[in-house]
Amino acid sequence: MDSEQVGLIWDSYAALWTEQTRKGFDQYRDLLNTPTFLHVFPIKRDGNNNNHLLRGLDVGCGEGNNTRLVAEHTGAKIIGIDISPVFINASKDKEDLDFVTNTFTSSSSSSSSSSSSSTPSPSPSSTMITRQKIEYQVVNAEKVGDHFAEGSFDFVTSFMCLMDVPDAKAVLVGVNRILRPGGVFQFSVLHPCFNPPTKKMLRDQDGVPYAMQIANYFDTGKVKIDRWWFSNTPKDQRAPLLDTNTNTMIAPPPPPQDDRKIPAYCLPYFHRTLSMWTDYIIESGFNIRKIVEPTALSDFLPKESIGNKVIDDTKSIPIFIIFQLYKPL
Ligand SMILES: C[S@@+](CC[C@H](N)C(=O)[O-])C[C@H]1O[C@@H](n2cnc3c(N)ncnc32)[C@H](O)[C@@H]1O
Repeated sequence: MDSEQVGLIWDSYAALWTEQTRKGFDQYRDLLNTPTFLHVFPIKRDGNNNNHLLRGLDVGCGEGNNTRLVAEHTGAKIIGIDISPVFINASKDKEDLDFVTNTFTSSSSSSSSSSSSSTPSPSPSSTMITRQKIEYQVVNAEKVGDHFAEGSFDFVTSFMCLMDVPDAKAVLVGVNRILRPGGVFQFSVLHPCFNPPTKKMLRDQDGVPYAMQIANYFDTGKVKIDRWWFSNTPKDQRAPLLDTNTNTMIAPPPPPQDDRKIPAYCLPYFHRTLSMWTDYIIESGFNIRKIVEPTALSDFLPKESIGNKVIDDTKSIPIFIIFQLYKPL
């Protein structure tokens, strides 16, 4: 399966994904992964928003939730890219709406605002947008190195995308090219040690995991199609699985609108061992600065994370991993 086929599959689920994630269905993202990712991300805005001339790229931005958070967190000018036109349109629509509905923008405005370096005052009744407007483009991450100019970004982020890309090394090589020397690339993926082609969480009678069965860790050649719903999709609204037998079929398109049942996401995943990821990273010219394994044990997570049954699994097993890389000077 090539990246264009993967893109078509994502595109077919993008409307449902956007609707569900914007209702808070992606608890791993909102309560664990993104807070951890931003907590360790080394570029943070200061009160004077001295970062407004920095340029950042978010690869595999989906409907743009995390891209918006990165823009707020860093104060930088951000471009979000995704292979799915449906996702990019959803991101653009939200951005246009945010910037029309809210009457205040901060320094964005590198061009239009005054030269004052302090944050301007909002109009009292407005909901503030304290970040620069994001630009979104349909781009295949495998081609990112050809799409943007060499050395044109100060940092690149990617949340939970690279394990979907057949040629993940091409993404790393491309990102290395478009980063300036000293620039940061931080990306998260499913943890390769705990998401091999065969795995099963073993739980006690209260649903608390006590072990994980792992096999076929070195089986890296094939695409795996995972089938799942977000955990808060009501059981009686889940459409029957069309095929539970094979891991190789192309995902069926979601059923038509009038079918009330919610289809399982059938999304491709390309498993690589931990040593493959580190080889890709080093061979593409990066140094590793930090590896982070998000866990519900962290004390900086939002208060809604505490006691959340979904993310609590990560108190004993890290399901995700974050690589923080930099391009040597
Ligand atoms: C799990 S979603 C993550 C979305 C978003 N980063 C987030 O955290 O909410 C993976 C995203 O990667 C995108 N994607 C998959 N393959 C891609 C490729 N080759 N180039 C660009 N985006 C891709 C999908 O369309 C999807 O939006």
